[in-house]
Amino acid sequence: MTGTEVANAAGGDLAPLRRFVRGFAALLDVARPDAALIEAGTPLLAALVAEDDWLPPAYAAPDPQRYTQYLLHCDSAERFSVVSFVWAPGQATPIHDHRVWGLVGVLRGAERVQEYARTPDGRLSARGAPQRLERGAVDGFAPASGDIHRVANAFADRVSISIHVYGGNMSAIERATFDEAGRPSRFVSGYANTTLPNLWNGPAA
Ligand code: FE2
Repeated sequence: MTGTEVANAAGGDLAPLRRFVRGFAALLDVARPDAALIEAGTPLLAALVAEDDWLPPAYAAPDPQRYTQYLLHCDSAERFSVVSFVWAPGQATPIHDHRVWGLVGVLRGAERVQEYARTPDGRLSARGAPQRLERGAVDGFAPASGDIHRVANAFADRVSISIHVYGGNMSAIERATFDEAGRPSRFVSGYANTTLPNLWNGPAA
């Protein structure tokens, strides 16, 4: 079997994801504030989601019960994780925070995002109008500038998929969901998969 045949047997050519992971790890080798990292990482994620031909079907499968998160890669020092976020029609998250920086790139379909801010009395209020992120769009957030939001599939009749990059291993980070009054509940997100896509066949292109 050639390298290409192995890649095809795995469900696609994962070179774009490998390129992204290597590029993002190199960014993190230089210490920089979250805002600068988001700015530098945005074009890398934009390049990854510009083509929708690399995500293996096993990591693109919706669950009719709830939105699904598949881990695609976790940095060996858990500096960042890459997750495919799969929305069945109409699915949405609760209001939640992250506690680390994050980048979201829309690979398929579209998403609707509502940001929230804390009011002086500790409640949450919507910050600005809901945004619609179309295919190919990239958005970033960080705790210092606000990392509380609610995200939904913008479509009621089709699957949407976004690629998320977080500043840590999200299955190891305790964070919170919030009700409309701003009351938090402890929350740790898990990954739906137990095996990872193999990015590492053969030399890097
Ligand atoms: Fe989020």
